Amino acid sequence: SQVQDIHAEKVKKAKNMAFAFDIDGVLVHGDRLIPEGKKVLDMLNGDNQLGIKIPHIFLTNGSGKPELARTQQLSKILGNPVHTDQFIQSHTPMRALAEYYNTVLVVGGEGYRCREVAEEYGFKDIVVPNDIVAWDESIAPYRVFTDEERASSRPRDFSKVNIEAILVFSDSRDYATDMQIIMDLLRSENGRLGTVAKDPVSQRIPIYFSQGDLLCPTEHPVPRMSQGAFRIGLEAMYKALTGVDLERVVYGKPELATYKYADEVMASWMDTLHGEERVPQNIYMIGDNPASDIVGGNMYGWNTCLVRTGVFQGGENDEENPANFGVFANVWEAVTTACRKEL
Ligand code: G3P
Ligand code: MG
Repeated sequence: SQVQDIHAEKVKKAKNMAFAFDIDGVLVHGDRLIPEGKKVLDMLNGDNQLGIKIPHIFLTNGSGKPELARTQQLSKILGNPVHTDQFIQSHTPMRALAEYYNTVLVVGGEGYRCREVAEEYGFKDIVVPNDIVAWDESIAPYRVFTDEERASSRPRDFSKVNIEAILVFSDSRDYATDMQIIMDLLRSENGRLGTVAKDPVSQRIPIYFSQGDLLCPTEHPVPRMSQGAFRIGLEAMYKALTGVDLERVVYGKPELATYKYADEVMASWMDTLHGEERVPQNIYMIGDNPASDIVGGNMYGWNTCLVRTGVFQGGENDEENPANFGVFANVWEAVTTACRKEL
């Protein structure tokens, strides 16, 4: 019948659209739900006129704990299932690096959670800065090292170990210690602590950062410095000490590698939901940060929606990186407007 035809047509269209959600400032603020976030996910998970699931993935520059721990926490806050197969945080694509390096320095995050992340990614030999401080406290002259930290670290003779790569997974909790150790390694002969290379470039080990945000909104009235600021500090120090520019790799939004990874995740999530492994034609990125979510989405050919519940506090649209689909009061307004257009 005609009614069935119209329904079938709409279902087809619904399978040809998808959403990529930023998390902080769009769906939640830290551990606090943005109510429209739950409403949107209820709708996309089937509480809609078509009764079908509209594909969506989560693309966050957040970091610092394993994917499963973070998705479980988010599922609870959002009152909707968030599966690890539809979830990308800043360091998720760095999983692929486990194949290339044996011994790595993993920097950032609370306690030893990033060690856990790296283990989960399959890295074989993981060193964190505290392991090095526990081996030789004089490496970090301003550090006050607690007994508890000493007990939970894994010292060994690092003058006999070659660290093959530096992976900054999350925000440094101690810039002085982490910057000192990173700089020591970048200037060493092939990642051997205690050495200083004659040629700073040919023997330098690679360094990777999980994201490049300069600032991050927190409870504090003025946004706090984030991994991007830490990286710029390191770059300036490296240049001043060696005279050469530091080559580095940055992941996360708005870097291309992260969007390519998102496409792969989108295609396999489509397969899970609808048995069709492909990227839907019309992708909508919903974000609050013009400098990461919006610029990245625009470059990648996605439809971009900027919401007013997070970092963006400007006028009609962002002047430098305007959202191409529009600016919305919140995620519900953005998603329902996109659905009205596509369905
Ligand atoms: O800046 C780090 C993080 O809090 C940003 O998260 O979800 O807005 O990309 P998100
Ligand atoms: Mg955000």
